[in-house]
Amino acid sequence: MTPLKASNARLKDVRRLSRRSVRTERRLFLADGPKAVEAALAAGCVEEVFLRAGAEPPAPPADVRVTVVEDRALELLSDAVTPAGVVALCRFVDVPVAEALSGARLVAVCADVRDPGNAGTVIRCADAAGADAVVLAGHSVDLYNPKTLRASVGSAFHLPVAVEPSAAAAVQAAGAAGLTVLAADGAGEVGLYDAPLGGPTAWLFGNEAWGLPDDLAALADHRVAIPIHGRAESLNLSTAAVLCLYESARAQRS
Ligand SMILES: C[S@@+](CC[C@H](N)C(=O)[O-])C[C@H]1O[C@@H](n2cnc3c(N)ncnc32)[C@H](O)[C@@H]1O
Repeated sequence: MTPLKASNARLKDVRRLSRRSVRTERRLFLADGPKAVEAALAAGCVEEVFLRAGAEPPAPPADVRVTVVEDRALELLSDAVTPAGVVALCRFVDVPVAEALSGARLVAVCADVRDPGNAGTVIRCADAAGADAVVLAGHSVDLYNPKTLRASVGSAFHLPVAVEPSAAAAVQAAGAAGLTVLAADGAGEVGLYDAPLGGPTAWLFGNEAWGLPDDLAALADHRVAIPIHGRAESLNLSTAAVLCLYESARAQRS
């Protein structure tokens, strides 16, 4: 098979998925690198795999097209500094918020999280802690931003992720689904080690710069603070998330 050149019209069109507006319109995105492609294939959302000539081919199901492309073409499809040689064209995997929350016992809700590395790391930590879902709420970064996907290291395909433009609606939906909503807040009135963690729980995490707005935190059942023993002003969002989610996992599983 002759590798497709970067100038190929179809590849040029696929490259337009680097823009969020095009991804949203088509409900398609690119998963980059062997881990993400493997997880996307397992999740059944892959339409086509683009492979650098000579790269180790994945083992896609028969209905997934595999296209060999020239090095330059792969570089242009990939966001990585050193492309790993395989990129998958995938259908969106996010689910409605009610579906993500239904029957869930542990959920992470990110409100207005802007940094793709943080969002992807929260998804990865939620997956590792055995959480049932993640909600990217409010004006949070795009789930399908290549940096979000890279930081999630495949976890974006492992557990349901919902995108809810209203953070208040996400919190209300969590309450309606029977989850106790705990707002992670350095100024919270309950300490993490005294918080009621045994039941179904949705953790609410705030923006990297301004945290949780008061009106949003007020919708939670409790505001929970991770103790700061030293002089740090606060914890990084994804560090706070991992502590809260693992403490919940410990309480729920013991
Ligand atoms: C970098 S912090 C925001 C700091 C911001 N200056 C503030 O006043 O909240 C981002 C998010 O991480 C979580 N977080 C950080 N430190 C925390 C702590 N000590 N206790 C609970 N949550 C914390 C909160 O959800 C917070 O909204």
